[in-house]
Amino acid sequence: LARNRHYGQLIENITIDNAGAEGKCIARWEGKVIFVSYAAPGDIVDLKIIGRKRKFLIGEIVKFHQKSTDRIEAKCEHFGLCGGCKWQHLSYKSQLRYKNQQVIDAFQRIGKLDFPEPLPIIGSENGFHYRNKMEYTFSNSRWILQEEADSGDDLDKNAVGFHIPGRYDKVLNLNTCHLQEEPTNEIRNWIAQYAKKEGLSFYDVKNKEGLLRNLIIRNTTLDEWMLLFSFGYKSEQIDPFLEAVASQFPKIQSILFVINDKPNDTIYDLDVVSFKGNPWINEKLGDFTYKIRAKSFFQTNSHQAKRLYDVVANFAEIESGDKVYDLYCGTGTIGLYLSKEAGKIVGIESVPQAIEDAHENAQNNGVSNAVFEVGDMRKVFDDRFVAKYGRADIIITDPPRSGMHKDVVEQLNHSGAPKIIYVSCNVATQARDLDLMREHYKIERVQPVDMFPQTHHVENVVLLTKI
Ligand SMILES: C[S@@+](CC[C@H](N)C(=O)[O-])C[C@H]1O[C@@H](n2cnc3c(N)ncnc32)[C@H](O)[C@@H]1O
Repeated sequence: LARNRHYGQLIENITIDNAGAEGKCIARWEGKVIFVSYAAPGDIVDLKIIGRKRKFLIGEIVKFHQKSTDRIEAKCEHFGLCGGCKWQHLSYKSQLRYKNQQVIDAFQRIGKLDFPEPLPIIGSENGFHYRNKMEYTFSNSRWILQEEADSGDDLDKNAVGFHIPGRYDKVLNLNTCHLQEEPTNEIRNWIAQYAKKEGLSFYDVKNKEGLLRNLIIRNTTLDEWMLLFSFGYKSEQIDPFLEAVASQFPKIQSILFVINDKPNDTIYDLDVVSFKGNPWINEKLGDFTYKIRAKSFFQTNSHQAKRLYDVVANFAEIESGDKVYDLYCGTGTIGLYLSKEAGKIVGIESVPQAIEDAHENAQNNGVSNAVFEVGDMRKVFDDRFVAKYGRADIIITDPPRSGMHKDVVEQLNHSGAPKIIYVSCNVATQARDLDLMREHYKIERVQPVDMFPQTHHVENVVLLTKI
């Protein structure tokens, strides 16, 4: 963090007055904005200034005078150290209130948009255990707590868990993480014990050596489970290790691995080897079944994904024969979800593997009215594309966090589609894009959906109609 003249200054008896960007809360002091992590609006605290970022100061709570009524006891023993669920100290009701407010703030401040009051945010029934995919990292450089270091004990340096925020080289060893259902913790902890007993090496990120690198655990609402291991090199230790895992956890349908001897962790350029079962598991949303492969993208909260798609379906009010463009379609899930009512679905997505999955999903679900094109949106979604497929009746766009390129927004503005549904996981870029559409499309309805309880993230669906 950058320092400035306020560095180290103590600010006493200050009220935290709002939840701001990136899940941090905001206090205002002498015309300046202070961002504070792990605070709650309504807290009255003493803050120490620990840094500066662009126009903001960064503060840390050093003393409470009064705690916010939004506060609850965080459930997780790793809260505060782990970068994962930074809003656990807020009641779920207040999390939803702040997420809703985040949408309104972005639309008012960034986009200065005209919009109706958002529909009440759709909360998740499960506040925990909602993720269907977790990625754990093995490391020989465990994050050591001060009291452990002071104890003088002989410390185990191996860890399996998550990177400490901002530290690529240090991993927090997890005991229990509440984001995925059991047996996720049971599997990870058993593997750590077994690996230590059998002398399997945990990855050394500095020297780029070690056998166990990463473990991705995926599950579905059909209770199908997949393990994908990433090993640092080929080894005779791999087979007996995987056999032990398979016999300890017989309910795991799919056990896969990659050999990754590259410096980076990405698996997308590696061959996936099947050790046990099929190289996929199945997920069901509504009437549709999707095969999820090791490298497939799938919404990480399946229950809420269905509700999100239901919002899209309700906004779309598809009439028989409608032509639907599904932009940034991933594995085609939204388009396929709407395919029964629609005349034709046309998906575009940049990842070739996702488009292969989309074709397979269409075929397996007996959908014959969907086509998909692969490539960069800006290049694929052009006049030639529109001439080829004809004017859409409904366009669904679900871009990544960075939002849409302005050429894509321009193409949407001139698409002639009577309805556009903009699904976004980042309201800041959504507000920016909607600002560029104001002369062509009117914001008709706004529906936030909570896909990620305990975090500040909010998904937001906007229905636009042609002016
Ligand atoms: C938020 S996901 C949407 C996935 C899908 N609609 C779903 O619900 O599963 C965004 C998708 O956009 C794709 N993408 C990112 N940049 C792109 C680009 N420039 N052109 C086309 N697709 C892109 C990503 O690969 C990803 O699949």
